[in-house]
Amino acid sequence: MARLLIVHHTPSPATQELFEAVRAGATDDEIEGVEVTARAALAATASDLLAADAVVLGTPANIGYMSGALKLFFDTVYYPCLNDTAGLPYGLYVHGNNDTAGAVRAVEQIAEGMGWARVRPPVEAVGAVTGEVREACWELGAVTALAAAGEV
Ligand SMILES: Cc1cc2nc3c(=O)[nH]c(=O)nc-3n(C[C@H](O)[C@H](O)[C@H](O)COP(=O)(O)O)c2cc1C
Repeated sequence: MARLLIVHHTPSPATQELFEAVRAGATDDEIEGVEVTARAALAATASDLLAADAVVLGTPANIGYMSGALKLFFDTVYYPCLNDTAGLPYGLYVHGNNDTAGAVRAVEQIAEGMGWARVRPPVEAVGAVTGEVREACWELGAVTALAAAGEV
């Protein structure tokens, strides 16, 4: 069984909507052989990551950066996982009130440093969550789950 890990910081209804859409895509009935685990960024461990075949990261933009919670996750896993997660497929979604660029850049820099492989461009959502954003998150979850199974 392949494993997809979703590591998310979800402090509000808008970020909850994005997270739920990602999880719905990842757990779609048509995707077989993938076990999906979601962990709050403040609770996710190096063991969770080492067990994963792909990961989706989700964060709000906070002061032009990723959330402190997701940063803590990276601080926790960086050295313990550096050698063993090279090539890990990953996806990213970011929600902000006006500008997600700094958060995306920060996550992509660290992911690149770990040698992870982005499966598709990040979902960047600003303000009210639209159907289009929900759909993009659903697709992000589905495609990253397929990547966990080695199918994309
Ligand atoms: C401390 C703090 C810093 C924030 N910094 C940014 C920011 O730099 N850019 C941005 O677009 N949104 C920023 N926000 C807004 C959050 O990204 C937003 O609250 C989050 O995505 C959830 O959206 P919601 O409040 O509409 O539910 C910040 C929020 C907080 C609490």
